[in-house]
Amino acid sequence: MNIAANPVIEADQTIYLKDYQKPSYLVDSIHLDIQVFAEYTQVNSKLVMQRQTAGDLVLLGRDLELKSIHVNSQPLLENQYHLDTEQLIIPNAPDIAVVETSVIIHPESNTQLEGLYQAAGDLFVTQNEPEGFRKITFYPDRPDVLSVFTTRVEADKKFPVLLANGNLIEKGEVGENRHYAIWQDPTKKPAYLFACVIGDLAVLKDHYVTSEGRNVALEIYAEEKDIPKCHIAMEALKHSMRWDEEHYGRPYDLDNYMIVATSAFNMGAMENKGLNIFNTSCVLADEEYTTDAAIMRVQSVIAHEYFHNWTGNRITCRDWFQLCLKEGLTVFRDQSFSEDLQSAAVQRIDDVAVLKAHQFPEDSGPLSHPPRPDHFVEINNFYTATVYEKGAEINRMMATLLGKEKFRKGTDEYFKRHDGQAVTVEDWVEALTAGSGVDLSAFLTWYNQPGTPKLEAKGVYDAAHQTYTLSFKQSLKAHPKYPNLKAVPIPVALALFNAETGEQLVLNSEALFENGVKDGVYLFDQDQATIQFKDVKVQPIVSLLRNFSAPVNLEFNYSDADLAFLLQFETNGFNQWQAAQTLLERILLNNHDAEVYVQAMKDTLPVLIEKDPLLASRLFDVPSEGYLGSRIDADYNPAVIQEKRNALLSTLANELGSFCKETYLALDPDSQKEFSQAMGVRALKNILLAMIARQGDRSAFELAEAQYNHTCNMSERLGALRVLVWNDAPQASAVLNDFYNRFKDEALSIDQWFMVQAAHPKATAETIKALTEHSDYDLGTPNRIRSVSGGLNANPVNTWSFGVQHFIELAKYLDEKNPIVGSRLLQVLSRWYTLAEPQRSQVKVELEALKPLVKSKNVSETLSSMLNV
Ligand code: TRP
Ligand code: ZN
Repeated sequence: MNIAANPVIEADQTIYLKDYQKPSYLVDSIHLDIQVFAEYTQVNSKLVMQRQTAGDLVLLGRDLELKSIHVNSQPLLENQYHLDTEQLIIPNAPDIAVVETSVIIHPESNTQLEGLYQAAGDLFVTQNEPEGFRKITFYPDRPDVLSVFTTRVEADKKFPVLLANGNLIEKGEVGENRHYAIWQDPTKKPAYLFACVIGDLAVLKDHYVTSEGRNVALEIYAEEKDIPKCHIAMEALKHSMRWDEEHYGRPYDLDNYMIVATSAFNMGAMENKGLNIFNTSCVLADEEYTTDAAIMRVQSVIAHEYFHNWTGNRITCRDWFQLCLKEGLTVFRDQSFSEDLQSAAVQRIDDVAVLKAHQFPEDSGPLSHPPRPDHFVEINNFYTATVYEKGAEINRMMATLLGKEKFRKGTDEYFKRHDGQAVTVEDWVEALTAGSGVDLSAFLTWYNQPGTPKLEAKGVYDAAHQTYTLSFKQSLKAHPKYPNLKAVPIPVALALFNAETGEQLVLNSEALFENGVKDGVYLFDQDQATIQFKDVKVQPIVSLLRNFSAPVNLEFNYSDADLAFLLQFETNGFNQWQAAQTLLERILLNNHDAEVYVQAMKDTLPVLIEKDPLLASRLFDVPSEGYLGSRIDADYNPAVIQEKRNALLSTLANELGSFCKETYLALDPDSQKEFSQAMGVRALKNILLAMIARQGDRSAFELAEAQYNHTCNMSERLGALRVLVWNDAPQASAVLNDFYNRFKDEALSIDQWFMVQAAHPKATAETIKALTEHSDYDLGTPNRIRSVSGGLNANPVNTWSFGVQHFIELAKYLDEKNPIVGSRLLQVLSRWYTLAEPQRSQVKVELEALKPLVKSKNVSETLSSMLNV
């Protein structure tokens, strides 16, 4: 039987981009009727389908119990269709086919959190991206099939809230105990954006008037007790709506926008049309219960999902290989939004830190893939740092090169050309090119090949001729699956500084023009190139990749003193931070002396703390043990890294001496006007408190206890808790108990309680065992699993000893219960092959032993990639 209407599924289950074919049928409209009962749910659907190309009529469906099927009102006989575990195929179907099916599904026992599932006693929600809709009804579940959805939801009255996408057009009762609501979404959309919610939730209401004068009702649904924690999200939503109008000319297009919070969620949040569903961790925000970092994250995720309305929903992806089209662009948009919320430099620091800690290691290991992959087995495995974060970087590079005005012309052209369509990465780059008048086609190479380019640069000053010559070279590590790697366009933002005075030099504009350097950005797009600056009267120090203008590994012949200079005098806050990071990597990985770094910190901090406490707090960042480990490709010994890092932290604490305590006592977050600066002061105080403890000063514990007791702010409370717990202070168990009792009904706060203990520097297998046997530990709630696993993984020494067992057991269990999460957690072990022996072989044996035990495509694809090194 011909099943080619979908990208061909071959015997080995790999799906290839090159095999893409248009769907044979489109769906003009779908009517869904979802009736929820305690022990099952019945879904009736009616699809009005129209032939587009030759081929069978193919409906995808998984775990559906088919009760009946009709085509154009005639029941189908068993020999008129073919049904297997993945699809229902109707050969020789008429050109216009009204297909009606009735199926039974079981959301009450759905632990995978995909399709329609019961999230908690009183809540049913959906998660359909990327391929969950096929677990609700038979449908051509692929993003290039767009349809108008009408949804009837029916349930017991104990679930007063009945939601679906679009406008509420009718509601009523069914007998005495049941009721229904009918929703219609006027905008055509792919099935992955369908959502419905059935539950008993409270709601926070507001409204927003768009630039076109549309009055939009805004609603955030959550448990009653959590409604006070929804205000920050509501403000962020209104702010996002305004921001997208101002920066991209994109107003909202429906009369309502609803957000629903649930703790049973695999990822952060989901942009379903007009009905976002959020992990509670990405919507609930309150100084008393959640940290400053979590509050920032809530605002960025709210913006992210809202921005998807144009980049993802109105214009969607042709197929799932194009995932980074919507995700890379939307992450770039939410990062830009967050840069406007707080210090742009600090937002950039935080975003690049994530990129370097997650995407760079991913891209240098066995799970490396292009931002737009050309094959996959399980698409859920490709919601990766590479697709999201590197995808965002590609858009940022193009935006940097074009400048604000031309970039806007490019995006305007994209929206004009493709509104209502399902498109590809090529369509995006072509629209940007056409709108801006600048040929960006070379950037497609970034989408199509894996790996982090190495950018080697050298600078030579010729005092006699007053020239400064910069030479560049780029290279990529060979990749077995992608043999024809090409040079990529690398925008290098740069500045020269006077080495004597620290002042920035004005770049000679004629020279800039000659060199192709415009607005301080040089586009390096060859394997090698040289540029020269003229009339450079003094020895300069160059600062490269300002604001991290390209996602590459830079190698430049800086002396440690040059880096100390940039740490102190760079005016770009990001590069100031980067200089500190580079120095620290040299100390921690290449045995450089710490003295230059410590002196630069001493010289820089006092002024910076006054001027910009938030940036100052980031200057204290010391690369995590995990990040440092990821920079090592062979013979990695986590204990050695741990020891060196601890030694460095002690040196810094001791060298800063009384400055730590004096500054700690002088800083007052409540004296700051801006939230972001108050957040900076809180971060600084926590860092300094940890330093005081590291100095061996026992008064740190009293300070911590006082900080813990005299605050209503979670960042302050948690900072104090960490110092007491991680240093085994006499007060440790009392504050842990207090924290637990104070917050026992607040899941997000209790996640932190688990995490602090799991991340104890001396945590043992017994520590983790006690936590996973705690009555509040729950394998059905991904947030809780992540809090313990994430805490454990904060100490790579533990990850690579008893942690191996922990992650393998989890993968084994979740393989069946929740393979999306199981596959992601297993990836923690993906750099096993870099370990020194005998650990390397030991871990390999354990991973190989897991192989025959796993069944899901998710976990088995990840595991076989991991073993294929
Ligand atoms: N599109 C979602 C986002 O980026 C991602 C997402 C949410 C998701 N839930 C998911 C992806 C479940 C896969 C599975 O905001
Ligand atoms: Zn997204």
